[in-house]
Parts: sequence; structure tokens; C-alpha cells
Amino acid sequence: MSKTVFLINGPNLNLLGKREPSIYGADTLDDVTARCTALGETAGFTLKSMQSNHEGQIIDWIHEARDAADAIILNPGAFTHTSVAIFDALQAYEGLVFEVHISNVHKREAFRHHSFVSARAEGVIAGFGVEGYELALRRVISLLG
Ligand code: DQA
Repeated sequence: MSKTVFLINGPNLNLLGKREPSIYGADTLDDVTARCTALGETAGFTLKSMQSNHEGQIIDWIHEARDAADAIILNPGAFTHTSVAIFDALQAYEGLVFEVHISNVHKREAFRHHSFVSARAEGVIAGFGVEGYELALRRVISLLG
């Protein structure tokens, strides 16, 4: 049976390609989704890409993933550094979790150095630009494919 991966992006990532391109690059979220969808298809994986600026919506999608996704690739944006609620939702999810940051958060302001999500993630990718999403998906495929 084909496996499903939720690609969840948090606040401000709808502006990818327009927002601070010197940090986040020129590719849009649609470009990222298209590349990950194509990569997933080559291995028989279905990718569902979602983005929200609202913490509760992200939590609802993580709950939905309990019955609908074998893995979550998550860039929680700024909620990475603030959200115990997203961490708790991930604790209630049994599949694989990979955390992706486009920028190297450790090279930036001190408030970006702590992640509430990392303690639940199988792996963390930071600073590989938008390629980080494909790297995370490759890892999901090699673990579950
Ligand atoms: C980010 C890093 C976060 O600190 C920031 O708030 C974001 C994007 C990244 O992808 O590099 O919105 O998660």
C-alpha cells in the first residue's frame, strides 16, 4: 500500500520566495511541493503539502496525521521556538517526524537556537535551503520505502 507523508509548513512560509530571499531563497512553497511530490511519486509515496499561519491548525493536522500519515516533515517556522502545544501534539503521533529549517537557525539570533520540536524528531535539517525538504523526504523513503 502506498505511504503518505504530510509536509507541514508553519507561519510566514506561504511567503517563501518573497520573504527575505537572502535568507530563505527564491523558490516558492509551490516549487518545493512540486519537487517533493515528484520525488515521492518515484518511490510510491503520496505527499500532502499544507501551510498555515495558525498554531491550532498545525496541531489539527498533526492529529489528522495519526490516522492518515506514515511520516511528517515539519517546518514549524517561529512556532519551533515557542510551541509546547505542537510538541505535545507530536508526542501523540506515532509515525516518523523530521524537522526542517531552511536557514541555519544556530547561526542566527539566540532565540532561534532552541527548538521544542527537536526532542520528538528522528532528524533535524537546518541550513540546507529548501533542499532540506527533499533531503528529509529521501530519508523517509529510505526508512519506509
Ligand atoms: C525557519 C527558522 C525560524 O526561526 C523562522 O522563524 C522561520 C523559518 C527556517 O525555515 O529557517 O519562520 O523555520
